[in-house]
Amino acid sequence: MIAQSTIDKVYEIARVEEVIGDYVQLKKSGANYKGLSPFNSEKTPSFMVSPVKQIWKDFSSGKGGNVIAFLMELEHFTYPEAIKHLARKYGIEVEETVQDEEQKKLQDHKESLYLVNQFAAHHFEDLLNRSETGRAIGLSYFEERGFTSAIIKKFGLGFGGTSFDGLVKAAQEKGHQINYLTELGLCIEKDGSSVSYFDRFRDRVIFPIHSNSGRVLGFGGRILDNQKKVAKYINSPESPIYHKSKVLYGIYYAKSAMAKANNCYLVEGYTDVIQLHQNGIENVVSSSGTALSESQIRMIQRLCQTITVLFDGDDAGVRASLRNIDLILKEGMNVRVVPFAQGEDPDSFARTHSPAEVKDYLKEQSVDFISFKTQVLLKEAGTDSSKVAAAIRDLVSSIACIPDPISQELYIRQTAKDLEVSEGVLFASLADLTAKQVRDSKKATKRATPLSVVSRMSEQKKPEVNRLEVLESALIKTLLLYGNQKAFFEDEVLKEGDEGEIVTEKVIHEMKVYEKIFLELQQDELAFSNVSFQALFKRVMEFYVTADEEVSMEKFIRSLSSENDRVLVDIVSNILLEDEQYFLHDWQRKNIFAKSKEDSIDRLVTETILSLRSYLLDMQIKNLQEASKQDTHAIEEVMDYLQLGQLLNKKLNRVLSL
Ligand code: CTP
Ligand code: MN
Repeated sequence: MIAQSTIDKVYEIARVEEVIGDYVQLKKSGANYKGLSPFNSEKTPSFMVSPVKQIWKDFSSGKGGNVIAFLMELEHFTYPEAIKHLARKYGIEVEETVQDEEQKKLQDHKESLYLVNQFAAHHFEDLLNRSETGRAIGLSYFEERGFTSAIIKKFGLGFGGTSFDGLVKAAQEKGHQINYLTELGLCIEKDGSSVSYFDRFRDRVIFPIHSNSGRVLGFGGRILDNQKKVAKYINSPESPIYHKSKVLYGIYYAKSAMAKANNCYLVEGYTDVIQLHQNGIENVVSSSGTALSESQIRMIQRLCQTITVLFDGDDAGVRASLRNIDLILKEGMNVRVVPFAQGEDPDSFARTHSPAEVKDYLKEQSVDFISFKTQVLLKEAGTDSSKVAAAIRDLVSSIACIPDPISQELYIRQTAKDLEVSEGVLFASLADLTAKQVRDSKKATKRATPLSVVSRMSEQKKPEVNRLEVLESALIKTLLLYGNQKAFFEDEVLKEGDEGEIVTEKVIHEMKVYEKIFLELQQDELAFSNVSFQALFKRVMEFYVTADEEVSMEKFIRSLSSENDRVLVDIVSNILLEDEQYFLHDWQRKNIFAKSKEDSIDRLVTETILSLRSYLLDMQIKNLQEASKQDTHAIEEVMDYLQLGQLLNKKLNRVLSL
């Protein structure tokens, strides 16, 4: 692991404008720099760098963050890779932390496995290109499949040899230990005795499987003729460095094309990936014949927002795959489909068509997943009305997976049209499903205390969530901008009057804004529904609490230096640069700006908190009213909340009319 001291040094020395200057031509603009977005092709600059805050923002894509985030976005570096890159650039020595004995052993063990895999990959490549049998059998096989020598080289394809233990012997000669080879599944003990070993991948052509950063994790080996008796492909078993569900074949070669196209083609096999590459389609990966796992989807999602699934034209296969796609929808990704004719796969199609034809086909045949599924299910159901009903339920259950309510609604409309049923029926069925999901998730969580409305809210994924985010974001912004300033806050306390009656009395406290916000949230046990906001809130609080007199946002941003903080840095820079966006578009001169609110911070803080609270209360009331249709007990609760709401609104109006 890289030592924290190195990370700190990198943050201290690296200048965001210098690093970005290597990629983007920056022009001074006020206190900032601006330039053309490196993530999009554009003619008017919408990319901005703040040397003071050491952050950047790309208004064309919405991306932004600190210098590390920039390198991770543009170069697709991992966090440590970005740190190391900057260390190199600025001549900073990278210190590694001393690991404890156990960690070090594991790390060394993994490194040895990587080395052995790399050795094997070279060995297989050598056999393919330089041995007589390799060329005669392996190379000619690839050539017959239409692979060019350039593509064979690029993907590091190889041949397993024909001898019983060629790899074992070569590895041992080089001093590699046999137990590493067995652990990686490169060889197998003969008859279970540990006396002699034979190569597992012999008589097969080899497809090395690479990690994100290009290291060899494992291999796929294909037999040369289609004999029925043995498996067509054998693959490396799971090992400390190869976890099948966390790897996508081809990702190393696809990642920058995926980001550029904001789309990833998903195919089934090794040869599909390679053949498409050869035809100029580089944003393609394979799940190696299985359904996508959640971590595979996340891997793709880090690079682009759309997955286009290329389906073989085999009906049974299509049917089986439909269900798996719900998982991708759940992650909020767009899913499209390109179907291929019966008996055709992307590899065979690409081999028999020109690159231009392939490109056109992928473009023209691409249909939205829900429409595709509608067509498939309808065709299958025919005129059998019970089957049609089942198909509708199936479709609605897919639509229910989509987290964005606006997309959901659009899909319902479209599907109603396609199915020639009324939208109302589909909406009702969607509502049923959603209600059921809510019930299930409620059962799973313990009953919330009265005002922890937020946690109830987040269970329900209501369309109003966006409004909630706006309010929460406003509160975070106030905290970031004014957290450490002092202000006078008015409070009402209940007291016993002279004649024993209860009266309210106004008291004025002087305190820091962050303290006020903290207390207000504590009081109602409110938490942010947005988990990133909640995490950020905690960090800002810690920062203010431990800060000396001189607090600055630069300091805070610098303290968000671990890899997991990336999303927080992103939010902070978005919030802080929001105002500058107006400046960028020259709106300031048009006077769209509200005048600085700094002169009445107390009012701003109170207003922000009250708006959030009153919104949450409204939601709570709505939910309760819904519940009270079945449960009379809930009516009393509604009344209580309505009263509280009136009180809040009175307070809010008072603040607003100040
Ligand atoms: N696969 C596997 N083991 C098998 C069969 C298939 O691991 N016994 C995986 C491989 O990753 C393969 C993918 O599933 O690439 C798709 O299988 P299939 O469509 O049968 O093979 P193709 O990729 O079309 O291979 P080829 O064109 O060489 O027949
Ligand atoms: Mn094939």
